[in-house]
Formats: sequence, C-alpha cells, structure tokens
Amino acid sequence: MIAYVLFSALAVLPLLLYLRNPYFLQDLNYAFTSMLLGVRLNRIWKKSYTILDRFLDKVAAHPHKKFLVFEESSFTYSQADRESNKTARALLTHTVLKQGDTVALLLGNEPMYIWIWLGLCKLGCTAALLNNNIRSKSLLHCFSCCDAKVLVAGAGKIPLYCTVEVLPVLKEKGIRVFILSEHCEVEGIESLLDKIQLTSDEPLSRRLRSNVTIKSPALYIYTSGTTGLPKAAVVTHQRMWMACCLQFIAGVRSDDVIYVYLPLYHTSAFLMGLGGAIERGITVVLRRKFSVSNYWDDCRKYNVTVIQYIGEIMRYLCNTPKKHNDKDHKVRVALGNGIRGDTWAHFLERFGNIHVCECYGATEGNVGFINYIGKVGAIGRVHFLHKRTHPYAFIRYDTEKEEPVRDSRGLCIQVPVGETGLFVGKIGQRTPFIGYSKNNQQTEKKKLRDVLVKGDLYFNSGDLLKVDEEGFVYFQDRIGDTFRWKGENVATTEVADHLLMVDFVEEANVYGVTVPGHEGRIGMAALKLKENMDFDSNALHQHVKNSLPSYARPRFIRIQDELAVTGTFKQMKVKLAEEGFNPALITGPLFFLQDNKGYVPMTEDIFNSITEGTVRL
Ligand SMILES: *[C@@H]1O[C@H](CO)[C@@H](O)[C@H](O)[C@H]1NC(C)=O
Ligand SMILES: *[C@@H]1O[C@H](CO)[C@@H](O)[C@H](O)[C@H]1NC(C)=O
Repeated sequence: MIAYVLFSALAVLPLLLYLRNPYFLQDLNYAFTSMLLGVRLNRIWKKSYTILDRFLDKVAAHPHKKFLVFEESSFTYSQADRESNKTARALLTHTVLKQGDTVALLLGNEPMYIWIWLGLCKLGCTAALLNNNIRSKSLLHCFSCCDAKVLVAGAGKIPLYCTVEVLPVLKEKGIRVFILSEHCEVEGIESLLDKIQLTSDEPLSRRLRSNVTIKSPALYIYTSGTTGLPKAAVVTHQRMWMACCLQFIAGVRSDDVIYVYLPLYHTSAFLMGLGGAIERGITVVLRRKFSVSNYWDDCRKYNVTVIQYIGEIMRYLCNTPKKHNDKDHKVRVALGNGIRGDTWAHFLERFGNIHVCECYGATEGNVGFINYIGKVGAIGRVHFLHKRTHPYAFIRYDTEKEEPVRDSRGLCIQVPVGETGLFVGKIGQRTPFIGYSKNNQQTEKKKLRDVLVKGDLYFNSGDLLKVDEEGFVYFQDRIGDTFRWKGENVATTEVADHLLMVDFVEEANVYGVTVPGHEGRIGMAALKLKENMDFDSNALHQHVKNSLPSYARPRFIRIQDELAVTGTFKQMKVKLAEEGFNPALITGPLFFLQDNKGYVPMTEDIFNSITEGTVRL
C-alpha cells in the first residue's frame, strides 16, 4: 500500500513540476551545463590557458580535421597552425613587435585574417579589429585608441586608398604600415604577403608569450557609443572565453560545421563564431560577405549544421521567394541575436526545425542572457543560478531625463515583472567590466553607483528590457545616443559631427526611427540651417556619401527653425523619433535619401512605398 502511494506520488511529481514550470527540465539542464562550465573555466583560467592554447590542443588532437573552408580552398587544423606560424615569423622578422604590443587589422573576411590573429596570439600581441568600412578621421581615432605599433590592411584598392589617406599621420607617429599584397608601389607602405610566403612555418617558442595571462587583452573590438567616435572595448582572454563558450551552451557538438559570414571585426563572428568553433574544435566555413542568394546553397554545399545570425539576416532570408528545397539542408542550430518574434516564427515554419538560440550581451558587457529554451521572441531567461553567479537588476528609467529614477535614499528602483526597466549588471570578480582602451571618461560613464545599496557598482547596459510572468526576458529599446541599423551601431553624435561640416548646417540632431518590417532604426536628422542659406540637397548627399558608411547616412532629413533641447541643453531625440517621417504629420520640409538621386522631397507616395516595403532601404 505504502509502495503504491509512493509510486503514485512519484508519477504525479513530474506533472506537478510541469504545471508549476513547464520548462523544468530545460532549466535543470541549463543549471547542470552552467555549473559544469563554471568549474571548467575556473580550472583553465588558473592555468592562464587561452583560446590559442585550446587551438593548439585541437591541432594536436586532430591535425587532419578540416578547420577552415573558404571559397574553393580548405585548411586542416595542422595547416592553419603552420600558416599562422608563418605570419607570426614574418611579423617578428620585419618589425620590432614584442609581447604586449598591439597590431591593428583593417581586413575583410579571408583566411589571412585568422592566420594573422593566431600569429599575433603566438607572439603574445593584441589584435585591434578595425571596422573596414571606416575612413579618415574615424580610422585615425580607432587607430590611436589602441596604441597599435603596426597596421595591416587588406589587399585591394579601397583599403589601399583608405590607408594612403591617413598615411602621413601614421608615419608621423612611427607606425609601420603593411598591405596584404606581394608588392606595393606606395612609399611608406610595405607588402606583407611576399614576406609571409618566404618565411618558415616552424612552431614558435612559448617564451614569446610568457607574460600573457587570462587578464591580458586579447583583442580590441570597436563599439559605437555616446562620444560619437567608436570606443575600443578591451576583450581580455577571460572575456573571450566567456563569449566562446556560447556554442557549448547552445549544444554545438564536435562534428558540427559552422557558417561564418558576418564581418570578423564584430563580436558575433569573431568570438561567438570563430572563437567558439575553436573551443569546440569544429570546422568553419568562412565567407567574404553575406549573400542572401547563396546562403542555403552554401549550407548545402558545405554541409553546414550551425549558422549564426543577426536579426536582419533572418528577415532577409525570410523575404526571399519560397523554394521547393527550403527545408533541404542540415542546419540544426542558429546562434545569434536580434531576431524579432514574427521573423522567428516565419523562419521556423519556412526552413524547418532549427534550434534558434538567441543570446543577449554587449561586447564590453559583464552579464548576458541566453534563451536556451528557444522561446520565440525572448532574448533569454531568468535563472536563479545565473542570477546568483551573475547578479543584475532591471531598474526604472526616465526616458526624457535620460537617467534612472531614484528614491528618497538616492537608490534605484527595481521594476516589477512585466514592466520595462534598464538592465544593469553588477560588477564583480566573476563579472568584471574592463571598459574601453584609453578612454577612462567613457569607461566611467558606463558605471552606475548606488543601485541597490550604497556603494555598489553596476555596468549600465543602456538597454531597456522586460521580464514576463514566466521569467522570459524581452528586448524593448536602446537608450542614449546610438541606434542599430543593418546590424551596425550608429553613433548619433558621430553622424551629427559630419553633418555639421556641411556649410549650410547650423545644428544637427541625429536619431533613429523605426520602419515597419525592419529591425532596429534607420537614420534621420533634424537640421537647423544657417541664416540666409538654403538646403542644398546635392552638397549634403556628396558629403554623407564621402564621409559615412551607407548604414550611417541619414535617410530622412527634416528642417526645423529651432532644435529642441532639454534643461541641460541635451538634444531631445525621443519625441522626434516618435514623430517619425510621415509627411502628413510633419510640418516643415522633409527629405528622403533616394539611392543614386540624393535627397528628394518626401511625398505621400514615397512614404507609402516605404511602409509597404516596396522600396529597399
Ligand atoms: C615580462 O614580464 C617581466 C616581469 O614583469 C618583465 O620584466 C618583462 O619585461 C616582460 N617582458 C615583455 C616582453 O614584456
Ligand atoms: C556532405 O555530406 C555528404 C553526405 O554525407 C558527403 O557525401 C559530402 O562529401 C559532404 N560534403 C562536404 C563538402 O563535406
């Protein structure tokens, strides 16, 4: 009898657990995985074991396994190791680099990117991953942020042009400039490819990187921010490990093949994609650039099983005409961030049962989330263990004053479930915030004090998130002076600085507006013109075309007599962003940047074709 009661109780237990929490098993599995990971990371960090060490161990474990596939060529782990020995030796011979120095890379996706980075790791050097869309002033700024001694630029006309443009300043600072070609005619720029080809591929002594610890900078990755100009986030080897372990949490196995096509200078492709692949010891299929028409053909051709995404990419894929072989592929995991709920559902329905693992986190951030359940639309899930090891809070935020709301004691107020709050991560031993290279002011600006108790210290993510009744976390909005468009961060003040260089512009307020059916926000600017000067569509178009990458160019311009400012003379963006670009609602001149034509007056027709999605933005 007692046995019978016990047995029934045991049988009912799962049901009770399920009713209380339908995700019980997945939560348990996550708890188990993260504990395992925590123990493992603690052990390897004590030994100052870096991702390079992991790579070398994989080379020893399976030298003949394919590491990299690029266009028609492929490289085994052992070949990759030898290629990186060559680049390391070439740099060692032809420069005076020593451990602790930084080398800036201005490269597109190609195998050499990876060989140079691995080579730099072998020399104990740090790589600064420059965005290869940036030019002139921004390029020089990014360069000086990281104190690089050497610049390596890709072969081809554009990188050469950009490099020549800034060459006098670089030379003044005694910086060595290399271009990845076999020869170079330009004085002051040296070719590197020929030197690499002539160098031996013998392994390099560990002594060359003897001083590297888990806290040493491994990379500088640039993020846009409130200053306008990009900031160099310091990615230590420890931080790198955390991002590289996302594949492990997402369930990537050693027989998987990952497709990496996002730019390697971003965290997604470099850390989550390439770094994670090295951690797992798998094969990387690298592509120069995203191509919507080749995407699934590539996946089929290379037997890709894991893809990465940013929200925009998923939408582009869903927007292509349906094909009979849409579900004919081996992709089983998609890892990334920023997919919208509707696109997500559409993606699954169209391309089959793929485990979409949405993650949330900033390059320089100290706490992130992972949606290990696959709940459509959520960026993660509150889990007691995660919260215990990575403390965080959602606090009430005043969007007009642009600061957290504080109570009578001067402390922040946590928002209840279901209410949107600013996400802040507690800075601590396990959750350090390293900040930005040579930019103490911006580093300090990201810190928030006296949050829950006097004297505590948090990292201000700048993101507004919401937690629902079930514990799922949803992205709501981004505060402050950056917005995202086409997967790139756009710093409003940087764009405004460029607009101010145009002779008829007196003041510029740049912000992002939402467009139906698109992730993120598209650029818009409110301008005040100088007295007695007219809006010159052509001049403005030429200027933005020459000085800004296409994703950062304001697509809408409105002219105002006065630009609204707050009591502390900060520009007001929230109201403008809400007003959007509907000509029926906006008084005053309104322009639209039409491809090839420049800024044309906005009409009802243009507005309708944008909202209906018939104009490509
Ligand atoms: C390595 O560290 C030691 C001890 O701090 C220091 O003396 C030495 O100069 C460092 N070597 C390099 C190449 O930085
Ligand atoms: C992909 O898998 C198929 C079947 O397992 C195999 O025949 C083919 O050679 C593989 N292709 C590549 C590029 O590995």
